[in-house]
Amino acid sequence: MRTVAFYSPKGGVGKTASAVNIAYLASLSGLSTLLWDLDSQGSASFYLSRGAPGEGKKITKLLEGRTPIADFIEEGVYPNLDFIPAHKSFRHLDIRLEEDERSQPLKDMLAPLAEETSLVILDCPPGQSRLTEQVLKVADLVYVPLVPTWLSLNSWKQFHDFVRDKKLGVKKLRPFFTLVDRRKKLHRELVEQNSSLFDKPSKTRIPYSSAVERMGEEGLPLELLSPRSEPAASYRRLWSEVRTELKL
Ligand SMILES: Nc1ncnc2c1ncn2[C@@H]1O[C@H](COP(=O)(O)OP(=O)(O)OP(=O)(O)O)[C@@H](O)[C@H]1O
Ligand SMILES: [Mg+2]
Repeated sequence: MRTVAFYSPKGGVGKTASAVNIAYLASLSGLSTLLWDLDSQGSASFYLSRGAPGEGKKITKLLEGRTPIADFIEEGVYPNLDFIPAHKSFRHLDIRLEEDERSQPLKDMLAPLAEETSLVILDCPPGQSRLTEQVLKVADLVYVPLVPTWLSLNSWKQFHDFVRDKKLGVKKLRPFFTLVDRRKKLHRELVEQNSSLFDKPSKTRIPYSSAVERMGEEGLPLELLSPRSEPAASYRRLWSEVRTELKL
């Protein structure tokens, strides 16, 4: 079982859109895939639900081992794609993890699924906390969407240095540009100049596109909503990168 997280300290940068599209593409290629929505806002549900998001379950039951993780899974959202929806109690996940005495609670929670699941995709909430550390520990790769602005690059640098200083696996980090608007001079410049500054950047750039915005309205992954669009092609490239890196 391999694990990929979509994480950024910043909000609204395309973590959820990316997690959902990559999870769907993984399932299409025949891999048994699990998408776990770790964000209490539950946005991934909207992108997957065709307009009828399901209800999640309380996280304490999982953390305390009272309910097995399998009971949290909505099966067969699409063939090969299972989903753990968020629940409002996930907003306390940080505090709960802080109180947890195990060194890797997130990893322990996922362990029972190892045999039946090839790929776990984690859709993370914004912010930097104990959950971030757990995600970095459990994930084989952490994809970090970056909008091409100075503030976003600054926040990336701070996050990179935090991961390096805490020895959480800087080599796992894969920054990639999202919401790239080629009409904007700043976007063009930052994307060209800064790609070379990252240790291991993803080569894929996700363009700004109204097709991605429509995912939430329609409750569909891009590959079903608008497979011929530019961002759909970009997400297919991103998936191919992930797959090659993880040898899946
Ligand atoms: N490539 C894109 N082009 C245009 N709009 C996009 C693109 N990617 C994401 N969006 C839009 O930007 C908003 C934020 O996207 P998304 O929910 O994926 O970000 P997020 O990082 O998960 O946000 P949050 O931090 O709130 O969880 C959404 O309205 C989404 O439709
Ligand atoms: Mg999100």
